[in-house]
Amino acid sequence: MKKQIHLNGFIQNSPSPHSTGLWKHEKDQGTKHNQLSYWTKTAQILERGKFDALFIADVLGTYSVYENSHNAAVQRAVQLPAHDPLLPISAMAAVTQHLGFAATISATYAQPYALARQLSTLDHLTEGRIAWNVVTSYLESEAVNLGFSGRLPRDLRYDRADEFLEVVYKLWEHSWQDDAMMHDKDNDTFADPEKVHAIKHKGEFFSVPGPHLVEPSPQRTPVLFQAGASPKGRNFAAKHAEAVFTKNNSLDALKAYALDLRERTKNQGRNPDDVRIFPMILPIIGSTEEEAYAKYENLTNHVSYEGTLSILSGHTGVDFSKYEPDEYIDDLESEAVQGNIDLYAKDPNKKWTLREAVKNHGLGNGTVKFIGTPEQIADHIEQWSIEGGADGFNIAQTYSPGTFREFVDHVVPELQKRGIYRKEYEGATLRENMFGKGNVHLPENHPAKKLNILRNK
Ligand SMILES: Cc1cc2nc3c(=O)[nH]c(=O)nc-3n(C[C@H](O)[C@H](O)[C@H](O)COP(=O)(O)O)c2cc1C
Repeated sequence: MKKQIHLNGFIQNSPSPHSTGLWKHEKDQGTKHNQLSYWTKTAQILERGKFDALFIADVLGTYSVYENSHNAAVQRAVQLPAHDPLLPISAMAAVTQHLGFAATISATYAQPYALARQLSTLDHLTEGRIAWNVVTSYLESEAVNLGFSGRLPRDLRYDRADEFLEVVYKLWEHSWQDDAMMHDKDNDTFADPEKVHAIKHKGEFFSVPGPHLVEPSPQRTPVLFQAGASPKGRNFAAKHAEAVFTKNNSLDALKAYALDLRERTKNQGRNPDDVRIFPMILPIIGSTEEEAYAKYENLTNHVSYEGTLSILSGHTGVDFSKYEPDEYIDDLESEAVQGNIDLYAKDPNKKWTLREAVKNHGLGNGTVKFIGTPEQIADHIEQWSIEGGADGFNIAQTYSPGTFREFVDHVVPELQKRGIYRKEYEGATLRENMFGKGNVHLPENHPAKKLNILRNK
């Protein structure tokens, strides 16, 4: 059987979140993100295309690095308004049967006890279709609104996230035994207290006695995605993630990333392929190559230059209002998202000026664009899968949800024709659809399985 690819739709609860300024495009519906029908329609499109999940990015603050102000973000709709990523999920689950939902939640600002409860609740309501994209956040504006005097240094954010995961693993995997639920009416016993355990977690960042507030959900631990590209972030992914979300602007960059991540995963005592790699791609589809490139030019004309400066400044932590348009982007260490600096400063193929970076970053937040006919896009997908080591793809959008609809109508049938993409869902839960039927829970070699709370008794 040929290597199978997996697909997620990439979105955020904001107007045109990943293509700055595209809310102005006549085909864009993203300004309706405050209505349930926008979400239910989008979910149904993706399920028609047999996607694994809708992958929902999130930030908890404004983009205010640029000119030290949120004004450009407000004016140009730079991931603002920023609505909650979890709240539309139940409605989408009610109109779909198989599609998963991968929500981005920051381990820097959430509390493990409360988040474990929210995600378990959703895993119940969706019957096992929840994933969590674990991030550590990058905006100063998040930190100062969430009880910190400023953004924590990267290393500390990851150390906190590491302990955060230990706490939620204890709650999800070890607090309630499988047979704790009795529903024994004759003996007035709803659940067996002998089988529901306190976790008694005491660590550097968290003190959580437990027990977990929710009985075991279908997957127990939601499918764990991670997005973060610094060396510390990659080690974190190698230890915890079942899949990573990555942004690369060339096949060579993806190859280097995949080799590095697989080596780090092996060093954590896991199999190199235990972490599935999902690069983000932006498809621009035409019935001919010329039509696709004309469409690309048209879409580019809707991009907001200042809005993109604002998002790029937030992504990198560098205030680009201080740069000349033809200045080169320097190779800097960033406390924001290192991968976004590396995208431009470490490109082996060229040096990027700010003007060029803005042009690139305006559509799909700088990720690679696959422009062409459905066949050409399928060719790129196959090449990135076979040569680059991608296991799946997060499909970004220009206009929403039209980009998803075009992809499902034109590229999905081509992938199916080539025998590299499912025609039917394989399992009932998201983890089964991603990893094969029967894989409902985390594998035994995952660190979550190795914790033992009974030792704390
Ligand atoms: C492809 C990609 C997507 C990301 N998406 C988000 C996101 O939606 N929300 C967020 O707060 N952080 C996001 N992050 C950044 C993470 O917060 C990351 O944990 C943080 O930037 C620091 O790590 P890094 O320098 O290791 O990337 C993303 C990072 C990457 C590489």
